[in-house]
Amino acid sequence: MNLHTDKKNTTHGTGFFTVDEFKKIGKDVVFENGVLVFHPETIEIGNNVYIGHNTILKGYFQSDFTIADHTWIGQGCFMHSAGGIAIGVAVGIGPMVKILSSHHRIDDLSKPILFQDIEFKAVVIESGCNIGMGAIILPGITIGEGAVVGAGAVVTRNVPPYAVVAGNPAKILKYRNDPESVAQNSTTLA
Ligand SMILES: CC(C)(COP(=O)(O)OP(=O)(O)OC[C@H]1O[C@@H](n2cnc3c(N)ncnc32)[C@H](O)[C@@H]1OP(=O)(O)O)[C@@H](O)C(=O)NCCC(=O)NCCS
Repeated sequence: MNLHTDKKNTTHGTGFFTVDEFKKIGKDVVFENGVLVFHPETIEIGNNVYIGHNTILKGYFQSDFTIADHTWIGQGCFMHSAGGIAIGVAVGIGPMVKILSSHHRIDDLSKPILFQDIEFKAVVIESGCNIGMGAIILPGITIGEGAVVGAGAVVTRNVPPYAVVAGNPAKILKYRNDPESVAQNSTTLA
């Protein structure tokens, strides 16, 4: 494996921001102390959005990051929008949730994974969902409207609308709109 690279690491900056740097920002948006924002010029935030203490929003120069009206984001979350993130209206996101939208390829054995190409895969969280504390949403995942993700879940597959999922990897516990469905259906996500 060739461990050498000529690419030098550079700083991403402080993450300190002012509201006029965003691509778009609505009314009544709350940023608690310690929120850090990178590439705010790629981020659109709607009205009445709450962002809790020490949350990190990482925009990326070639992707869009949108957070729609009335969404609530808890403390200490980490959201990396390299591949794009779209969060719908009135989504509840618990503390310490992590959302990733890119990863390095791993197929070239001649060089470290860190130096391999990055794959970008957007994450979509549709309106009215609730994401439990500490959940991890992996690249490319869509969480359907009104779905519930349990605390600590690792979401590796798309979540259907109104499903309740939990665990690592996340599995369907039931559907909010069809509570009797658990016994009949496979609990494996598609
Ligand atoms: C996933 C969740 C919504 C399920 O709630 P529920 O429908 O009342 O489910 P139950 O408590 O009846 O549990 C059903 C089964 O799922 C399991 N389960 C529940 N939550 C789980 C979780 N987070 N991870 C793994 N398994 C979980 C239970 O152990 C139970 O398993 P069993 O049938 O083998 O005994 C809930 O447990 C949860 O995690 N809520 C998130 C809370 C949160 O973080 N809120 C954000 C704060 S702002």
